[in-house]
Amino acid sequence: MKKKLLILLFFSLPLFALMVLQWDTTAVATETLTPLEKLGKHLFFDTNLSTPPGQSCAACHAPETGFTGPDSDINVHGAVYPGAVHTRFGNRHPPTAAYGGDSPVLYYDEDEELWIGGMFFDGRATGWTLGDPLAEQAQGPFLNPVEQNNANPGLVILKVMLSDYADLFEEVWGTGSLDLKDVYGTYERIARSISAYEKSSEVNPFTSKYDYYLAGKVELTDLEASGLELFEGKAMCSACHLSEGDSPLFTDFTYDNLGVPKNPENPFYDMPRKWNPDGQDFIDYGLGDFLKSAGYSPEVYESELGKHKVPTLRNVDMRPYPEFVKSYGHNGFFKSLEEIVHFYNTRDVEDWPDPEVPMNVNTDELGDLGLTSEEEAAIVAFMKTLTDGYLFPEEATTASWDKQFFGVPIGMPSVVVLTAVALLAMSTRTALATKRHS
Ligand code: HEC
Ligand code: HEC
Repeated sequence: MKKKLLILLFFSLPLFALMVLQWDTTAVATETLTPLEKLGKHLFFDTNLSTPPGQSCAACHAPETGFTGPDSDINVHGAVYPGAVHTRFGNRHPPTAAYGGDSPVLYYDEDEELWIGGMFFDGRATGWTLGDPLAEQAQGPFLNPVEQNNANPGLVILKVMLSDYADLFEEVWGTGSLDLKDVYGTYERIARSISAYEKSSEVNPFTSKYDYYLAGKVELTDLEASGLELFEGKAMCSACHLSEGDSPLFTDFTYDNLGVPKNPENPFYDMPRKWNPDGQDFIDYGLGDFLKSAGYSPEVYESELGKHKVPTLRNVDMRPYPEFVKSYGHNGFFKSLEEIVHFYNTRDVEDWPDPEVPMNVNTDELGDLGLTSEEEAAIVAFMKTLTDGYLFPEEATTASWDKQFFGVPIGMPSVVVLTAVALLAMSTRTALATKRHS
């Protein structure tokens, strides 16, 4: 009897150790979030926080596309995503919700004569109230009738109170922190939690090939390297999409009018007057329009009409499968990286549709770059190195073994050990059986 137990122990121990080991590595992967960030993640992915229920932030900012729009068919056409009420559309396509945490509170730089910071294409989540543009941004979608469409902050809070992460909320922010008596404070805490998640290492992993190249761990291919050289040189991309330093964010948080044409398929043109008083004549004036509505004088806002925020280029090529179409620019006019690079290169020398906003178009840094088609391709190849989750060649070959087996990730080593244990067990059983019969 004792012997049997010993044998059992002998075989189960290594298996157990192995499971713990494997379990541990997966645990590490998901447990990098602090409780505050974890709370923000719950809020970000909670499909209950819309009216009617069904739409979370991730509906328009999904991880698999680099926290932008996850629907290829939508991207191919209007590029604007429906709200929780599916017949309602806003006027812009979703930019990434990642790598935005360093955007400063919106301000005017007197020396550079530029507006810098804030969130949204037009900067209207300024950060002027909460001191954190990302948190201020996160207060918008829940109440926006063309997005998550909740009637008021109290309703959002009530839904969070009834959620299965309500305890975590009070753990993070203190007892009584999730309360309808303090709607303003509670709603702010919701927004700050989301902001914390959007700033977390899970959303900003810095694990692209380019990051490893900067760290000296991997070489770029010749094509990628020449793309980088053009990006920082002849094509002048890095004048706005900063590419240098330790962990560059590929934006300088400024605003520009590239002369992007209208996207005629933008569903906003057909929205009722209530949301789109201008109908088919709607023009997206970007930052200038926001400054105007914020009460600035024409001297201030006129020179900003048509300008949109310089987006990060991190994960600009991240897509769930190669045929998946992403769209680019504030209205999703461009349908591929090739197309937008060709636009930068030839806007002023080839036959492109008119700019959506003809004033303040940047002609210094784009429009006629004189790039060959090989050079355009090189720049695209370089932008593809900005996708997170780069696998080193040796990881890429073992990755196929890292499949889940009843929730436990089984790597190559475990397969070997498991087979060995099984073989051993079988031979011992036979040995024991023979012994018993003799
Ligand atoms: C229906 C689609 C939709 C939903 C739902 C949605 N967003 Fe967005 N998001 C957008 C669009 C469109 C923009 C750009 C709007 C603009 O610039 O005016 C945007 C902009 C942003 C930005 C600014 C990015 C930048 O570079 O300026 C962040 C951050 C963001 N969303 C986070 C969120 C969060 C957090 C939620 C949930 C609380 C959310 N979004 C829900 C569509 C959506
Ligand atoms: C003068 C500043 C500036 C320069 C130079 C510049 N960009 Fe941009 N870029 C922008 C702005 C502003 C936008 C957003 C425009 C809009 O939405 O209307 C943008 C958008 C993009 C986008 C779309 C990103 C997205 O997620 O929608 C890509 C890709 C891009 N730029 C790549 C490049 C490349 C490649 C170059 C060099 C050939 C370059 N940019 C040069 C300012 C600049």
